Amino acid sequence: MIIDWPALRAAAAAAAARAYAPYSGLRVGAAGLAAGGQVITGCNVENASYGLTLCAECGLVSALHASGAGAGTEAPLVAVAVVAGDGEPLLPCGRCRQLLLEAGGDGLLVDTADGPVRLEILLPAAFSDTDLKQRREPRP
Ligand code: THU
Repeated sequence: MIIDWPALRAAAAAAAARAYAPYSGLRVGAAGLAAGGQVITGCNVENASYGLTLCAECGLVSALHASGAGAGTEAPLVAVAVVAGDGEPLLPCGRCRQLLLEAGGDGLLVDTADGPVRLEILLPAAFSDTDLKQRREPRP
């Protein structure tokens, strides 16, 4: 699949412009390319309680599933661009790397200032559903 990185980054920047970030002042937008070709977006949403803050990638992954864009695919998400309010790439936080892993797998392409990288570069030796399946104990 051909990935239009400038368009993906522009979609992320548009989402960042709509972010709700009155506490940190850091607007973040995320745009993802779904396996079916759809572009899905999310933005960060902060809260007066601080700890309830939702990262842009959380909104993106929720929208991916809610829209049905990734239904029936093992890796619903193919590529993702995350930008700050200035439109430049922002590397996903650790929690969001884990969240993205389950949506796009090790091969998910993540936009960086130096070009796209596979998610496994940003999140090596990750815990995944494979560990869960192999290591959990039988339920009583
Ligand atoms: N933020 C994101 O939306 N995604 C990230 O990957 C890093 C951080 C947001 C959360 C919070 O609203 C603001 O950036 C400052 O941490």
